[in-house]
Amino acid sequence: MGYLSKNFINLHELEKVDLIEILSTAEQMKADRNSDRDLLDSKSFILLFDKPSTRTRISFELAISQLGGSCIYLDMKTTQLGRGETIKDTAKVLSRYVDGIIIRNANHQDLIEFSNHSTISIINALTNESHPCQIMADLMTLKERFGTIDDLNVAWIGDGNNVANTWIQASTIFDFNLNMAIPREYVPKKAILDIAKKNPKINISQNIDDAIQDANCVVTDTWLSMNDDENERSKKIQILNEYQVNSDLFSKAPIDAIFMHCLPAHRGQEVTDTVIDCDRSYVYQQAENRLHVQKAILKYCTIN
Ligand code: CP
Ligand code: NVA
Repeated sequence: MGYLSKNFINLHELEKVDLIEILSTAEQMKADRNSDRDLLDSKSFILLFDKPSTRTRISFELAISQLGGSCIYLDMKTTQLGRGETIKDTAKVLSRYVDGIIIRNANHQDLIEFSNHSTISIINALTNESHPCQIMADLMTLKERFGTIDDLNVAWIGDGNNVANTWIQASTIFDFNLNMAIPREYVPKKAILDIAKKNPKINISQNIDDAIQDANCVVTDTWLSMNDDENERSKKIQILNEYQVNSDLFSKAPIDAIFMHCLPAHRGQEVTDTVIDCDRSYVYQQAENRLHVQKAILKYCTIN
């Protein structure tokens, strides 16, 4: 079991040809929702999560079941990991039971350690550093709306968090321009900034108007991520206040620009109801596309 398995951990570490194939498989699966009913026949998976989830958990569980596989959801706290069993022992044991583990983990390095000791596919379902499954669904949404991802202008407004990092990683593979307005205090960490600096298609500044002026798509995310220090809450909200995507800010984007947010949203903080509920908001389409993209990612990882 597992000797031909592939991981799905960070977009910039994957091959462009494979990511394009995943998007195209997801489109086909969306068009024919009854296809591939036995693709994962006799394959089993574990969802190992240490953080809450609505979309990621449900879309993976449904994707696996609709493709004929089986899965078990494990809250990390209720496993022996929660009592100090090593990642190494856990990874080696679980590798003997299932074909893949979908992990949502506060610490990205723990995910890497898990994958180093696994002989099966490890899929990143969000860490403090990245959220690759989400950005694949977002790219699929952009492609559906604009027919292509190439040369689109994506404007990121807000926190330099795990989702922002993944947009940066994605733009090293795909041919879109990424204009980010992020307060100095919350720009991504050095390793991610180094990726951005090498890529002329990425611009990071504190100038919201510049970031948004040619945008095909305006994206934001919560100002307080699940891994953030709660004690920073009021300071962070204060600093990010001018980065709220409200009607005034959104009106500075071209008239046909769309709005995207991975959800969950904190309405009234990073985005107002007037934007997230407007007819140019694609947030529910993004959420739906999680299901189709997860199916394609599962196929990429475990079917050779
Ligand atoms: N966007 C996303 O990953 O949502 P969940 O936290 O609900 O899984
Ligand atoms: N940046 C958010 C994304 C949630 C899907 C978080 O990590 O909480």
